[in-house]
Parts: sequence; C-alpha cells; structure tokens
Amino acid sequence: MDKVITTYYVLFVLAASLMPAIASGFGAQASYPDGFHNGGTGNCEGCHAGRPASALRNTSSAAKGGATPAGLPRQSMLNGSDPSSTCLICHSAPAGQKQPSGFLIASSRESLSAVAQTPSQLTPGGDFGWLLKTYKWSSKGGGANDSFSPGDSHGHNVVAQDYGFSADMVNAVAPGGTYPADRLSCISCHDPHGNYRRSASGAIGLSGMPIRSSGSYSDSADPDSAGTVGTYRLLAGVGYQPASLAGDFAFKADPPAAVSPPAYNRAETSADTRVAYGKGMTEWCRNCHVTTHKNAHPMGSTGKLTTEVIRIYNQYVTSGNRTGSKSSSYNSLVPYEMGTDDYSVLKATANSNATVRSGPQNGANVMCLSCHRAHASGWDHMTRWNLRNGVIVNEGTFVGTDSKSPASSASAQGRHSVETAKAYYDRKPGSFAVYQRSMCSKCHEKD
Ligand code: HEC
Ligand code: HEC
Ligand code: HEC
Ligand code: HEC
Ligand code: HEC
Ligand code: HEC
Repeated sequence: MDKVITTYYVLFVLAASLMPAIASGFGAQASYPDGFHNGGTGNCEGCHAGRPASALRNTSSAAKGGATPAGLPRQSMLNGSDPSSTCLICHSAPAGQKQPSGFLIASSRESLSAVAQTPSQLTPGGDFGWLLKTYKWSSKGGGANDSFSPGDSHGHNVVAQDYGFSADMVNAVAPGGTYPADRLSCISCHDPHGNYRRSASGAIGLSGMPIRSSGSYSDSADPDSAGTVGTYRLLAGVGYQPASLAGDFAFKADPPAAVSPPAYNRAETSADTRVAYGKGMTEWCRNCHVTTHKNAHPMGSTGKLTTEVIRIYNQYVTSGNRTGSKSSSYNSLVPYEMGTDDYSVLKATANSNATVRSGPQNGANVMCLSCHRAHASGWDHMTRWNLRNGVIVNEGTFVGTDSKSPASSASAQGRHSVETAKAYYDRKPGSFAVYQRSMCSKCHEKD
C-alpha cells in the first residue's frame, strides 16, 4: 500500500508539473480512429489507465495502476505492462491479420508460429514480427544445422512484455554507444506525448504554436503563423530521453526531415512506397550509435553521392542490366537522402503510385536507412536486403527452403520462399534479374 501511495504521489507531482507542457502539445481534436496522435498528444486515456487527464491529476483510484504479472510496478498507470506494450495495444496486428493495414507495425506471436508464416506488415520501418523469427540451416546444404540467423538480430528489440518481445540477448547496449538494450522501447525513439514540433521557419522544438496535425505526410498541413506540425513520425529531438530512464542519454540531434506518402503500409508488387528522405537521418541514429561504422562507409552530411555513384544508380535496373534512366531509377530497397529540408520538394516526391520515380541528383547522400530499416527486417542487422548471402533471386525465383533447385534451397538460409518474398515486400521475382546479386551494386559498379 505504501508503494502504491508513493507511486501515486510521484505521478501526481509529475502530472501537475508537466501538464502545461503536455497540454500545449494537443493537436487537432479529430477522434480515433480518424486520428489519435494527430502529430501531438493523443487522448490521455488511450495510453493511461483508461482514464481522462482529469483523472490522471486527481483520482484516488491510482492504485488501479496495479502490478504486472511479473510483479514489476506498472509504469505511469499505463494501459500495458510497459511503454511498448501500451503502444502495441493499437499498433500490433491481431492474430489472423494477413494483409498490411494502416498504422500496424508488429505481427503477433500467434500468427508466426508455423513455417512460412511471415510477418504481414509492410511499412517503411518494418514489422517487429521479424524479431520473433529465428532461422537455422546447414551451410553445407545438408546434414546438421550449423548456421543461425537469430530473431534478435533482425531489428531493434523493443521490450514489450505483453507481446512477447524481450531485450536483445547479444547487445547489452547500442553498438557504438551506451543506450541500455533492456530499456529500448518505442518511446526510446518516439516521444509518446508528441511534443516535438516543426514550425514554419523549419525549426524543431518543444515550445511554440500548438501542433495542428501530423507533419509526416505528403498531404499533411504545412506549419504557418497559426500552428506547427508534429515531427516526422513523432520522433524525439534534442534533449529527449524517456522520463523514467535514469542516467544521461539525452538526444543531441533533432529528427530528420522526411515525408511519407499517406499509403505507406502496402505490398510493393506493382509500385514502390517512396518515402522522401530529406536530411538528418544518419545524425539522428547517431543519438545512440555514436561511433558505429565511423570511418567505414561515407554517410550523412559527409556521404554525398559522387557524380559517378549518381550515374551508376540511375543506370542500374537489376544485376547485369544497366539500361535505366534517371527519370525512373528510384528503388525503395536502396533509398538515399535528397540532401534538403525543403518540404515542398519532399512532399512532391513522396508517393506510392509510381508518379515520381526519379533517381538521385547532386546533393543526395547515403544514410543509415540506405542499408538498414528502422524497426526490423527479415535479415541480420535489419538490413534492407540479405547481405549475408550473395543471392536474392536464383534461376528466376526467390530462394527458399521449398525451392526445387538445390542451389536455391542452399542459399535460402532457412527461409521459405514465401518469407524471402515478404522480406522483399512482395515484389515480383521478375522485378529482379534471373540471378540477382546484392543491392550494394545499385550504387557501385560490381556485377
Ligand atoms: C501514446 C501514448 C500516450 C498518450 C496519448 C499520453 N501518454 Fe503520458 N505517458 C506515456 C508513456 C509511455 C509514459 C511513460 C514514460 C516513461 O516511462 O518515461 C507516459 C508518462 C506520463 C507521465 C509521467 C512523466 C512523463 O512526462 O513522462 C505523465 C505525467 C503523463 N504521461 C501524462 C499524460 C497526459 C496528461 C496525457 C494526455 C494529455 C498523456 N500523458 C498522454 C504515454 C502516453
Ligand atoms: C489508442 C490507440 C493508439 C495507441 C495506444 C498508440 N497509437 Fe500510435 N497511432 C494510432 C493511430 C490511430 C495512428 C494513425 C493516426 C494518427 O497518427 O493520429 C497512429 C500513428 C502513429 C505514428 C505515426 C504518426 C505520424 O504522424 O507520422 C507513430 C510514430 C505512432 N503512432 C507511435 C506510437 C507510439 C510510440 C505509441 C506508444 C507510446 C502509440 N503510437 C500508441 C493509435 C494509437
Ligand atoms: C530505434 C528507434 C525506433 C524504435 C525503437 C521504434 N521506432 Fe517507430 N520509427 C522509427 C523511425 C526512424 C521511423 C521512420 C521509418 C521510415 O520512414 O523509414 C519509424 C516509423 C514508425 C511508424 C510509421 C510506419 C513505419 O513503420 O514506417 C510507426 C507507426 C511507428 N514507427 C511506431 C512504433 C512503435 C509502436 C514502436 C514500438 C513497438 C516503435 N515505432 C519503435 C524509429 C523507431
Ligand atoms: C534510442 C536509441 C537508439 C536509436 C535512436 C537508434 N538505435 Fe539502433 N540500437 C539501439 C540499441 C539499444 C540497440 C541494441 C539492441 C538491439 O540490437 O536490439 C540497437 C541496435 C541496432 C542495430 C543492430 C541490430 C542487431 O541486432 O544486429 C542496428 C543495425 C541499428 N541499431 C540501427 C539503427 C538505425 C539505422 C537507427 C536510426 C534509424 C537507429 N539504430 C537508431 C538503440 C538505438
Ligand atoms: C552502406 C551500407 C550501410 C550503411 C549506410 C549503414 N550500415 Fe550499418 N551495417 C551495414 C552492414 C553490411 C552491416 C553488417 C556487417 C557489419 O557488421 O559490419 C551493418 C551492421 C550494423 C550494426 C551492427 C553492428 C554490430 O556490431 O552488431 C549496427 C548497429 C549498424 N549497422 C548501425 C548503423 C547505423 C546507426 C548507421 C547510420 C549511422 C548505419 N548502420 C549505416 C551496412 C550499412
Ligand atoms: C546509396 C548509395 C550507396 C549504397 C547503397 C552503398 N554505397 Fe558504398 N559508397 C557510396 C558512396 C557515395 C561512396 C563514396 C564515394 C565512392 O567511394 O565512390 C561509397 C564508398 C564505398 C566504399 C569505399 C569506402 C571508402 O572509405 O573509400 C566501399 C568499400 C563501399 N562503398 C562499399 C559498399 C557496400 C559493401 C555496400 C552495400 C552494403 C555499399 N557500399 C552500399 C554509396 C553507396
């Protein structure tokens, strides 16, 4: 009982002191399911103990925060056992969900138990369900399994007890940094209260005019003298770290400039989902990965595409086919930043119906997401394509354990061809070469 009272008291004080900041983050008041965050703070009860803000401030039923099954104190009267579990109440795909849909970003454990059952959500960030898929195979193409691709290595292991996601078993901290892996959650990267905003001047900050809507989409409102918009994907900026995380992990870089098309969770069978990445993604990832790949591969503001690399990107179609042109060379498997934070340019570029397929120009740069996804992927180290295996398509089909050709089956690395296809966002094998090699060659003259 003492503990409950203490928790309640702490919350009360925090709530009272933070209420103005949080309340000023309120955006347009459209109601879920039309919108929930709307670029800013969603209704409190969507995340906090099913009760409105007033109840958060003064109710005697704070004890309802209760204890989780594991006996850990429930944090901040959240609706889930922990922050990520709270987000996943709305953001996880229900068991049986086979089609990509809206803002779902994690397939459920129940829908992934059998062979060839694949994560179903196809957002740019990627489906966290890949973390629940571990593959084993024999490198000799037969006999005992001697090779592994552990689920853990497929992405950011957010801790979400209610959904079966636990901390990474290998990385105790962010490689190249110090962020503790056992505290990695949705709110490590996204501000749950959506308080970071972009103003008409382009400046990003915590204060200023109220947030009127999401700022993530090509059809989002623009900020003006009367209102700001949320940062790209509610990503947190300078000074941020979750309130409950002790120690100094405050972000030093603001969120990137980027724009998503409104239809972003979809198969890329007939057209790519093109997020227009503008500027700052690499620097943002370096909030936690300070020294990763330092001096290894050029990227970010110091990773401009050279004239030669631009030429190669624009001519490359598939392995061995260099007949492409700059008006139609874009490939969402190998995105780059345009090198601008001009939102009129970014908004005119983002699409998912093949209207703009132009490739890079002078000023474009390599970024972390040229090679990785942000949440998870089907491959080790959440790369966008399988970098551990030279072959994507063999003899015209996606490699898979079910392949009739022994060569394809040996290259499958434990994946069913359906899983390989899904990890490539249900592209057609025919959109690649009959013998398709690594996508590094989209920027490099190699095959
Ligand atoms: C999208 C989910 C979400 C919404 C909506 C939300 N919160 Fe929170 N809130 C959280 C999470 C998650 C935490 C835990 C933060 C941590 O562990 O550091 C939290 C923590 C808090 C805290 C404790 C300290 C802090 O600031 O992090 C207060 C106070 C709070 N929320 C108040 C509110 C109020 C008031 C509203 C409505 C105006 C609201 N929250 C809306 C998710 C949400
Ligand atoms: C009550 C349901 C609900 C909860 C809980 C919830 N979300 Fe959402 N989320 C939505 C809906 C609906 C959308 C799409 C509409 C919108 O953006 O308002 C969305 C969109 C988003 C987006 C894209 C927003 C943009 O403007 O680009 C992000 C990022 C996001 N959620 C993160 C989170 C995180 C992190 C948490 C937990 C702290 C969380 N959500 C909790 C319902 C929810
Ligand atoms: C390591 C940082 C990080 C973590 C942890 C993280 N996100 Fe994201 N999230 C991002 C970034 C970066 C993007 C933008 C990806 C892009 O456009 O390529 C994003 C995009 C999204 C989107 C838009 C759809 C998409 O996938 O592109 C939603 C919704 C979202 N995140 C929700 C969540 C939820 C819910 C969690 C926890 C289960 C979470 N995120 C954990 C960084 C993170
Ligand atoms: C809030 C801190 C934080 C941010 C921001 C962040 N990461 Fe991470 N990242 C971590 C932590 C902690 C781990 C180790 C735990 C894990 O691997 O799940 C990690 C692991 C990784 C891994 C290794 C995965 C594996 O298991 O091999 C890659 C790759 C990665 N991050 C890329 C990125 C990229 C790209 C971005 C920017 C879109 C990013 N990270 C932003 C904290 C962060
Ligand atoms: C040109 C492609 C490329 C770019 C750009 C890139 N990476 Fe990687 N990354 C890789 C490859 C390939 C691996 C796996 C091989 C290795 O370990 O070096 C990897 C591995 C990693 C790992 C796992 C390393 C470990 O020790 O477990 C992390 C973390 C990571 N990358 C983060 C990032 C971040 C953060 C950025 C941007 C700052 C980034 N990467 C940019 C290709 C890239
Ligand atoms: C979006 C384009 C792009 C992608 C994708 C890309 N690179 Fe690069 N890479 C560059 C640019 C730009 C440079 C710097 C200019 C140059 O050396 O041509 C570079 C340089 C390099 C260098 C020379 C590094 C140095 O320090 O001089 C190597 C090696 C390399 N890349 C390997 C790779 C590998 C391996 C992959 C796939 C994992 C990859 N690149 C993916 C654009 C890219």
